[in-house]
Amino acid sequence: MKAIILAAGKGTRLRPLTYTTAKHLLPVANKPIIFFVIDQIARAGIWEIGLIVSPENIDLIKAAVGDGSRWGVRITYIIQEQPKGLAHAVSVAKGFLGHDKFLMFLGDNLIEGGVAPLVEKFERGAAAATVLLKEVPDPRQFGVAILDERGDLKQLIEKPKDPPTNLAVVGVYMFNHKVHDAIAKIKPSFRGELEITDAIQELLNAGEQIHAKVLDGWWLDTGKKDDILEANRVVLDEYASKAIHGEVSEESKITGRVEVAKTAKVIRSVIRGPVVIGEGAVVEDCFIGPFTAVGPKSVLKNVIIEHSVLLEGCTLMDVGRVEDSLIGRNAKVTKVADGRDSLRLLIGDDSEVQV
Ligand code: G1P
Repeated sequence: MKAIILAAGKGTRLRPLTYTTAKHLLPVANKPIIFFVIDQIARAGIWEIGLIVSPENIDLIKAAVGDGSRWGVRITYIIQEQPKGLAHAVSVAKGFLGHDKFLMFLGDNLIEGGVAPLVEKFERGAAAATVLLKEVPDPRQFGVAILDERGDLKQLIEKPKDPPTNLAVVGVYMFNHKVHDAIAKIKPSFRGELEITDAIQELLNAGEQIHAKVLDGWWLDTGKKDDILEANRVVLDEYASKAIHGEVSEESKITGRVEVAKTAKVIRSVIRGPVVIGEGAVVEDCFIGPFTAVGPKSVLKNVIIEHSVLLEGCTLMDVGRVEDSLIGRNAKVTKVADGRDSLRLLIGDDSEVQV
């Protein structure tokens, strides 16, 4: 069995961060999201991975991910010249996939417990596809499934305005070679894309067996700022451990699962986990509350911060309380020095500030 990871999307909903990085490289718990995806695939025993990237992001992704040897897998880079949909991405990878069964993983999705048991079941079985579903409060932005009384898949609809159920299609799928013929038959959707949902519907119409599994555990789809914060919260909650490798001054108080990377410094601060503090970061006279990831080389002085993600090299000084924030590389947030009650901003295109 092979795997493809789809990472060609532009990440427009995560601007301005995605002007300078790929959304799949944005960190949760100080680690790029796509690394978690590769971990989950490697743990399912799949070592041949096709990574589908765009002409714009291939260099960035290649520099971060490399050839996969770090995970004991082999990564083949495949360029999708234009974002013409998930089914189009599969057709671009056809040469790599050959006649093999494969796992298709959207590079910004994660599911609780990984995919190993699902992959094993699909490899042994005769189904043409497996789709994973998750109940969500508002499924309008997803593919939506209708099941019959026996729990078998009856119909899939992409982004319905009026969803018939609240079962969203999760961005992790398994297929055998029959999907290639199905993709050859579909036409672009209302949004001009070749939808994988339509290809699966085509398989259903042809009478193929499709396995639908409703997930109980969490599913993360990290397309927007709040999704990144939620992913950071869930991943820290699940994986953070207490590991103090850096320097922590005596006056500091650390409680719960807090990781302080080597060469990081914590001075006169209170840190309440789960929190990760990256290499070379300095935290001085701060309170850092739960679900915060402080990127490498960031400097925080005299701030209260929680439920936030700071990328590499941020500076936050004397700015009171910060919550629910996602701050890009080398960004600076400081207090106006002359004491006047005004804002002085130099912020990038598509930035958002709430005061
Ligand atoms: C895609 C699929 C959709 C699925 C979603 C999961 O949507 O088309 O069926 O529910 O991924 O993340 P997109 O991210 O292209 O809007």
